[in-house]
Amino acid sequence: METVSYPPVIVSAPFISTLEETAQWRDQMDAEGKRVVFTNGVFDLLHVGHVRYLNEARALGDAMVVAINADESVRELKGEGRPLYTAADRAEILCALAAVDRVVVFSEKRATNAIETIRPHIYTKGGDYTAKSLIDEEREVILRMGIDIQILSLVQGKSTSNTIKKMEGVAPVSEKPRLALLGSGTGSNVRALVESIGSVTLDAEVGLIMSDVAESGVLEIAREKGLTGIHIEPGSKKRGHLTDAALKEIVDRLKANRIDLVILAGFMRVVREPLLSEFSGRILNIHPSLLPSFPGLNAAKQAVQAGVSESGCTVHLVDASIDGGEVLAQAAVPVESTDTADTLQVRIQAEEHILYAATIQNYWKKLQEK
Ligand code: GAR
Repeated sequence: METVSYPPVIVSAPFISTLEETAQWRDQMDAEGKRVVFTNGVFDLLHVGHVRYLNEARALGDAMVVAINADESVRELKGEGRPLYTAADRAEILCALAAVDRVVVFSEKRATNAIETIRPHIYTKGGDYTAKSLIDEEREVILRMGIDIQILSLVQGKSTSNTIKKMEGVAPVSEKPRLALLGSGTGSNVRALVESIGSVTLDAEVGLIMSDVAESGVLEIAREKGLTGIHIEPGSKKRGHLTDAALKEIVDRLKANRIDLVILAGFMRVVREPLLSEFSGRILNIHPSLLPSFPGLNAAKQAVQAGVSESGCTVHLVDASIDGGEVLAQAAVPVESTDTADTLQVRIQAEEHILYAATIQNYWKKLQEK
């Protein structure tokens, strides 16, 4: 086996280079026919997503300079309490990576001045940027200087903000979401979701199933699959209504079960405060129409009566409106001239069973990246 010997640790190494030093170093590299890669970011609390990104970026050229935001601009970008590590600490950690040759600190919000001074051969950016969505000011400089732009893919599910949330107990410790499935009826969507998890289409776990109807198919499925099923007494005879006590019970149970996403699947009660705020951006619903068309009850019947040639289903976020929250995904279903509300509903549901699992999976990934 080959033995690896490490160089002695140089305690006083200058981990932060000035822009001028880096520009000179770049010229030296250039004279040797080497291509310098430039990337910039905060790089607070380094995680594996950073490391993979930096390795990939470095492989685009022969040497790499990383420009990091000064502490004040991190505070402006990310809020009080950030950065966790000072620029000096972040620079020292970055310098320990094999991929990183130089670290510079820039105090402006944009890295434009650093790019202009250093004049790298390759500019690279990660994540959800595209060449088009690069900050205009930076893009203008990069294009003017003839620098090669390379956009690298984001490492899914890794971010410093998410790590901090996990440590604060706000985000789940597991990377797959714990779902609560809420329904009032037959539960074909609940069944499809539970079975998607079994067949790996959906990487999630079901924490609990709740229904406002004691004898619903939804609770039957919970029993059949050995999952926790809970009947919530709605406390109100009014159609679609839940009393404050019922809502409190739902919230308490969701919290006690460490639920990440609340999945409404034919849950025929209006969701309101405090549930909306407690799970803001984390309550999803499926509706049997292409919203904003035909919200409310009997959507398939509404579509047939309106004589439309196409309907479908929508997965959306739940807010205080009726079926009016942000649309996450839709699937279209043609309406045949012979369709009744029942025949159309059957075909819509077949689409729902595919759409819901895929949308939950994608949405959870998006939340993890935030
Ligand atoms: C589903 O088609 C769902 O879209 C609809 O109830 C049905 C429940 O069926 N939801 C709504 O209309 C909500 N406004 P399921 O119990 O067989 O899943």
